[in-house]
Amino acid sequence: MKRILVTGGAGFIGSHTLIELQQAGYEVVVVDNLDNSSETSLRRVQDITQKPVAFYQVDIRDRQGLCQVLEQHPCDACIHFAGLKAVGESVEKPWEYYENNISGTLTLLDVLRKHNCKNIIFSSSATVYGDPKEIPITENCPKGQCTNPYGWTKSMLEQVMMDIQKADPEWNVVLLRYFNPIGAHPSGTMGEDPNGIPNNLMPYITQVAIGKRAELGVFGNDYDTPDGTGVRDYIHVVDLARGHVCALKAIDRKCGLAIYNLGTGHGYSVLDVVNAFQKTNGVKVPYSIKPRRAGDIATCYSDPSKAERELGWKAEYGIEEMCRDSWRWQCQNPNGYKES
Ligand code: NAD
Ligand code: UD1
Repeated sequence: MKRILVTGGAGFIGSHTLIELQQAGYEVVVVDNLDNSSETSLRRVQDITQKPVAFYQVDIRDRQGLCQVLEQHPCDACIHFAGLKAVGESVEKPWEYYENNISGTLTLLDVLRKHNCKNIIFSSSATVYGDPKEIPITENCPKGQCTNPYGWTKSMLEQVMMDIQKADPEWNVVLLRYFNPIGAHPSGTMGEDPNGIPNNLMPYITQVAIGKRAELGVFGNDYDTPDGTGVRDYIHVVDLARGHVCALKAIDRKCGLAIYNLGTGHGYSVLDVVNAFQKTNGVKVPYSIKPRRAGDIATCYSDPSKAERELGWKAEYGIEEMCRDSWRWQCQNPNGYKES
């Protein structure tokens, strides 16, 4: 395999994955509608790798646009990141989420098969396990009830791709269930650039630390966890990006359907993350305890051993590097990719 179509490649995880793909010798073709990203991230990728990124501002719901891209650049596989991902917004705008994520993916899959590109890696999420039946979570853990439309789009799209692969075994489908991606590229030039008030923990912490927000609200300290706050499996985005390069190996050996958790296997509480951030970076993160957030669960962390066994992939960075790199990105780019 040589050339990879990357949908949503201008986004947080996609842009970090482009670097790893190019450094591993792959050619990349990006389609992104820039709904939640900017072309600046792609320029930063090129600055780091010194290799060109072919970019098309195309929506994955635009069949003709996708066909033109694939006719110009026949691709061997697709890594499919494009989608809307804000959990709260998905509760407010379910139709928009189902339409963008589900219709978009159905159009993409059809265009891919018509261009004989039947290899796909899909960005799924630990959210498909719902309130997990076992901890640590293996891939055999049954899927559960999602608490929001965003989560359902992931769960439903997994099913769509499993059925398509079953009906046509020429397909190779790799479903990657991400745990909680944080961190940023160690260069400090690329990272997560949320719009408005961050929903997720780490971007909120970095904005408090730099003085943009007064304090972090810790959502609940009465969970059944060691310190009462929610426990998650945070994973450095560079490790996550490398997981996609390893997943291409599964496609190389014609895996059919394959499902992998991408996490570190370690659970950290909200207060563990706050403390690690303060200690690593020598900055204060004021916080106060707030009520629980609707839809949150107490504990979620992976058993990532299947990916290690079958893909030779293992997360290398720990919580200190995640805190260090998130902070470096925030300090060097106080306004994210927007010019100040
Ligand atoms: P992101 O928003 O930074 O990247 C997604 C990209 O897709 C954006 O650049 C956006 O402009 C683009 N996009 C959205 N709809 C599109 C459409 N219809 N056509 C073309 N482009 C479109 O998000 P991310 O954090 O990089 O996440 C990437 C993928 O991983 C998403 O599918 C997300 O649901 C999934 N995921 C993310 C996390 C996380 O915590 N970040 C966790 C689990 C799964
Ligand atoms: C959430 C989504 C998940 C999605 C992921 C990445 C839910 C239920 N799940 O995961 O589907 O894939 O984001 O987009 O929304 N916290 C605070 N204060 C804050 C923010 C978060 O205390 O200001 C706590 C949360 O309660 C949680 C932990 O920090 O215990 C992590 O939260 P977050 O970063 O939002 O990720 P998840 O909720 O795990």
